[in-house]
Amino acid sequence: MVKISLLLFVLLLTKMTESIEIYCNYKNEDTHTSYSYYCDVQNQLNVMSTNSANINFVRGDHDFGQSNDNVTCLHVSYKNVQIFPKGIQKIFKNLKRIDIYYGRLKEINQDDLKAFPQLIELDLYNNDIQVLEDKIFAYNLRLTYINFSYNKLVQIGENVFKMMNLTFLGLFSNGCISKTASNSTKAVLDIIALIKINCVSEM
Ligand SMILES: *[C@@H]1O[C@H](CO)[C@@H](O)[C@H](O)[C@H]1NC(C)=O
Ligand SMILES: *[C@@H]1O[C@H](CO)[C@@H](O)[C@H](O)[C@H]1NC(C)=O
Ligand SMILES: *[C@@H]1O[C@H](CO)[C@@H](O)[C@H](O)[C@H]1NC(C)=O
Ligand SMILES: *[C@@H]1O[C@H](CO)[C@@H](O)[C@H](O)[C@H]1NC(C)=O
Repeated sequence: MVKISLLLFVLLLTKMTESIEIYCNYKNEDTHTSYSYYCDVQNQLNVMSTNSANINFVRGDHDFGQSNDNVTCLHVSYKNVQIFPKGIQKIFKNLKRIDIYYGRLKEINQDDLKAFPQLIELDLYNNDIQVLEDKIFAYNLRLTYINFSYNKLVQIGENVFKMMNLTFLGLFSNGCISKTASNSTKAVLDIIALIKINCVSEM
């Protein structure tokens, strides 16, 4: 009886959580801070808030001598990614950079990023993110490069970027920071000052 209900429970769980496979084109590239071996995701992904999707499988031909443990960067662009995909850290254990550009991310929070304590670069250029909660990067203090340019940010916690030593912060063209207010050459401290003035909501 116990066995049967356990089986049913497992079946139910697998039904509820959709498995997603990614197909990687593995490449070598110079990023902003390092040289890395990365996975450029080739297949169309649908990661939507209506399903609870886990990335469980990965396909693709590795370069000689490389494996998923050597992958330090994941690159996802022009995909239907509405929520931050789960399970990535189980496949790629050594990620230092995550890029999701031209996606449809509506939100991202501390839970999504907690699994990546080694992260140095996060590029979420051109998505639909509206809010950055105060403690979003509490587990990612090694970040030096963050790019949220071309999102829909209207609210940013006052202390979001406080504990980090950022060399680049892109917030160009968002709801609370306009195109002209923050261009790509503006210094990190100038941008943080703009956040305090324009994006911190009074509660
Ligand atoms: C991949 O990682 C393994 C284990 O860390 C390492 O021995 C190997 O040299 C790496 N491969 C390349 C091509 O750097
Ligand atoms: C940032 O830099 C300061 C001064 O160099 C250092 O004390 C601090 O530990 C650094 N913080 C992080 C999170 O690396
Ligand atoms: C970008 O900002 C810098 C510093 O505020 C300014 O000197 C420069 O003219 C701006 N560039 C553009 C293209 O607006
Ligand atoms: C942000 O990232 C995009 C894509 O990598 C890049 O084109 C852009 O120059 C970066 N910086 C800013 C401030 O948008």
